[in-house]
Amino acid sequence: MAQIIDGSLIAKEIRQEIAKQVEQYIAQGYRRPGLSVILIGNDPASEIYVRNKQKACVEVGFESTIHKLESDISQSEISRIIHQLNQDEKVDGILCQLPIPEHLSEQKIIEAIDPKKDVDGFHPINAGRLFSGMDSLLPCTAAGIIQMLKRIDYDFIGKNALVIGRSNIVGKPTAILLLNENCTVTIAHSKTENLAQLCQKADLLVTSAGKENFIRAEYTNPDQVIIDVSINRNQFGKVVGDVDFKEVSPLVKAITPVPGGVGPMTIAMLLENTLTAYLKFVKNNFKEQQESNI
Ligand SMILES: NC(=O)c1ccc[n+]([C@@H]2O[C@H](COP(=O)([O-])OP(=O)(O)OC[C@H]3O[C@@H](n4cnc5c(N)ncnc54)[C@H](OP(=O)(O)O)[C@@H]3O)[C@@H](O)[C@H]2O)c1
Repeated sequence: MAQIIDGSLIAKEIRQEIAKQVEQYIAQGYRRPGLSVILIGNDPASEIYVRNKQKACVEVGFESTIHKLESDISQSEISRIIHQLNQDEKVDGILCQLPIPEHLSEQKIIEAIDPKKDVDGFHPINAGRLFSGMDSLLPCTAAGIIQMLKRIDYDFIGKNALVIGRSNIVGKPTAILLLNENCTVTIAHSKTENLAQLCQKADLLVTSAGKENFIRAEYTNPDQVIIDVSINRNQFGKVVGDVDFKEVSPLVKAITPVPGGVGPMTIAMLLENTLTAYLKFVKNNFKEQQESNI
C-alpha cells in the first residue's frame, strides 16, 4: 500500500508556522498582514472557497476582507476597486475569486492587481519572474505541490516528472518549479499521444486533467509518486481527483488523496504568499523601527 501524503496535516503545520510568525510581528508592534478577496456574483462553489480562505486567514491572525460585488458590475468599476486596494497600505494581498461572469475580462482583472500584492501569483510580471528564475509570488497550487513534496523529503534531483495539464495556474508553473528542483520534466495535454506509456515511465506524476478515473493501473509503476491536483464531482456528488484511487493506491509508492491532498496546500500557500508580501512591506516601510529593535 502506498504512503498517503496527508496534505491537510502538512498544511496545518504550515498554518501554525505562519501564525507563530504573525504573533512575533504583532508583539513587536507591527500591524497584522491583510488579505482582500474580491468575489463577483453568487457562484455557490466560489462562496465556499472564499469562506474557507477567510477562515484560514483568521486562524493565522491575518485581517481578511471580502469585497462582494454584484454579478453585473462593470470592468471599470472593478478596476477602480482594485486600484484602491493597491493603494491601501493595510492590504498586502489581493485576489479575485475565479471564475468571474462572462462579460468581464479575467486577464484585465489580474493585470490591474499590483504584482507585489498578487498573492495568487497570476500576474504576467510574476509569471515572467518565475519563468526567469527570479524571486516572485508563486501560483499557490504549484507552490503547494512543491512544498508538500519537500516536506516528505522527496528527492527531486534527476527524477522523471510528468505533469498532465498546461494551464497557466496549475500545469505550467508546476512544470517550471519541478525543473527548478532539477527534475527532468515532460508536460502532457489533451493532444499528447501514448499518455499511458509516458505516465508509466514517470517517477513523479502530477495530474491536473480534471477527469474522474483518468489515471488507472496501466499508468503507474511501483516506484511512482502521484500528486492528484484535480477536483471533480462524481455521479454521487462526491469530490474525487483524476486517479482511480482504489485501483491505483495499492500499486504506487506514494499518493495524495482527494480531498485532503493538494487542496489544503493551495490555501496554505495563499497565506504564505500574503505573509511574504507583508514581510516585504514591513522591511521597506519600517526600516527605522526594525533597526531600533535589533
Ligand atoms: N487542488 C487545488 O487546489 C486546485 C487548484 C486549481 C485547480 N484544481 C483542479 O485541477 C484541475 C485542473 O485545473 P486547471 O485550471 O489547470 O484546468 P484546465 O485549464 O481545464 O486544464 C486542464 C488541462 O488538462 C489537460 N487535459 C484535459 N484532458 C486531457 C487528456 N485526456 N489527456 C491529457 N491532458 C488532458 C488539458 O489539455 P489542453 O490544454 O490540451 O486542453 C489542460 O491543459 C481541475 O480539476 C481543477 O478543479 C485544483
